[in-house]
Amino acid sequence: MDRNVHARADLGEALALKATLAGELEASRRRLLDLLEPLPDEELGRQHSPLMSPLVWDLAHAAWYEELWLVRRLAGDEPRFPRNDELYDAFLHPRAERPGLPLLSPAEARAYAAAVRRRALEVLGDVELDPSDPLRAAGFVYGLVVQHEHQHVETMLATLQLGEVEYAFGAPPPRGGPVGSVEALVEGGPFVLGTSDEPWAYDNERPAHEVDLPPFWIDTTPVANRAYAEFVEAGGYRERRWWHQEGWAYRLEAGLEHPDRACVEGNWSSASGAQAIQNLYDQYPEMDAVFVANDQMALSVLQHACRNNISVPDDLGSSDSTTSPKPRSTGHPSLPCTRTSLTWAGWPSKELPALSSPTGMAASRKNRAPS
Ligand SMILES: [Fe+2]
Repeated sequence: MDRNVHARADLGEALALKATLAGELEASRRRLLDLLEPLPDEELGRQHSPLMSPLVWDLAHAAWYEELWLVRRLAGDEPRFPRNDELYDAFLHPRAERPGLPLLSPAEARAYAAAVRRRALEVLGDVELDPSDPLRAAGFVYGLVVQHEHQHVETMLATLQLGEVEYAFGAPPPRGGPVGSVEALVEGGPFVLGTSDEPWAYDNERPAHEVDLPPFWIDTTPVANRAYAEFVEAGGYRERRWWHQEGWAYRLEAGLEHPDRACVEGNWSSASGAQAIQNLYDQYPEMDAVFVANDQMALSVLQHACRNNISVPDDLGSSDSTTSPKPRSTGHPSLPCTRTSLTWAGWPSKELPALSSPTGMAASRKNRAPS
């Protein structure tokens, strides 16, 4: 009798765990598909940066990885499409080569992912999550696949940001503002680092072990632009002690006396230009030159200057990207623009930043190191 009760309890636990695993698989897949959903097929197949794969590769690769671990490894199935082992094993082709491979189309990749998922859920229904097998115990291999898919969503977000993709990311980020207290004291002492009982933890997060640290101070936020500006003003670029060896060597070689430039992204519209110039002035009240993406954004810069009694070009040098070689050669943007000479704005022509995205850039003519 007791044995039956225990068996039922074990069965209930196993079913609950399987329901959790199915839910996690669904959540990561929904996130991936939702991210890609607004993009047309040509954007999914294009390589947006040589550093990244075409987005459709990430989609099919996520499905291939799931097939490898949750279908072939757990159930012993034969490869659904043996050719995919050659195309979607990340170790076989560097990212720069992947656009040249005969990849699945977006529709084919979606169908492949859906077929793999159907089979993976069948296998999940039957699999015994044997606690003595490291792959199956507490559904470890499912966690591996779920986390892999989440990681690829992050990779795809980076691809979208690196590229020139028109993508509605939802509400614009909130305006910046001063942050409060910057450092906190962490009392020293022993604490437990890592885990021995989190079932989905990676090898390098195991085992839990005690570490004893002395007290230390830590920033409570990432370094804010305003704080970094104070560092620059206080001579941070002239004091060797704040720099790593390689950073100091680069600073000397490049003749930097301050950060090279600051960027605020826009979307070619005058509204985004207005937001960008406001953000830049919030961060750099002493800014005296700005390089903007196109005439629409440049117009907003001039309107901002006019409203705030900023004299152009005496107080603020402004130039738009049609004076730089890259937008002219790519024909983007294709709007009529006013050409202006950049030499008076303080940039020798060889140092013009090449814009690849609608970005407002602030620079300083006063503080620029002599080249
Ligand atoms: Fe991967």
